[in-house]
Amino acid sequence: MDGSTRRRALQAATLALVTAPLAAIGVRALTGDLGANPIEELTHATGEWSLRFLLLALAVTPLRRWLGWSWLAPLRRTLGLAAFAWVCLHLSVWTVLDQFFDWEAMLEDVLDRRYITVGFLGFLCLLPLAVTSTRSWMRRDALPVARQGGPRRAAGPRRGAGGAAGLPPPRPPAVAQPAAGASASFGTPWLRPSTR
Ligand code: HEM
Repeated sequence: MDGSTRRRALQAATLALVTAPLAAIGVRALTGDLGANPIEELTHATGEWSLRFLLLALAVTPLRRWLGWSWLAPLRRTLGLAAFAWVCLHLSVWTVLDQFFDWEAMLEDVLDRRYITVGFLGFLCLLPLAVTSTRSWMRRDALPVARQGGPRRAAGPRRGAGGAAGLPPPRPPAVAQPAAGASASFGTPWLRPSTR
């Protein structure tokens, strides 16, 4: 199996992993197997899966660094976005089924119940990471630098100057790199070439 097939198989397996619990919860809901309080059960189940996938996404970088498992790198974005999707589902269950769009009661809960305050702050932290992980955002981050020929060219001699000095013109980087100070995202480290 070549590298790109392996990467695609890994992505497919990860997608199956992050969607399987949704199918399992769907089956439980359809067969009336959500217990005496289905809304509470749904809130707990979606919250727990949010947390699991968030922890998995956060584990990718340490595992890459400490164990050298660089094959995990492309999964970080998938796992991060999956965690965000699960949090959105968790929030939707609470908003639609539990609170029934009672915005006043929801605001009161967010301000008064500590675990909901913490959950809401968690959601606010994930929001910019998810938004800046979209492909169009990552392209926007990478393009200005790629157009300049990447950091190497920006720091090196200008086009034509190398020729005059008898040096070959600098090569463009193989992978577009995010601009310095680019926003954090689930995806940015994937764009960055591994230092290993
Ligand atoms: C990073 C974001 C979040 C994570 C990781 C998360 C995680 C969790 C987990 C693991 C549970 C289940 C606890 C259990 O099984 O006993 C839970 C429950 C709950 N979460 Fe979240 N949550 C997040 C965001 C939110 C948000 C944004 C809201 C609403 C504003 C929210 C509202 C709730 C509620 C109402 C419960 C049920 C608590 C109970 O009935 O005891 N969560 N959450």
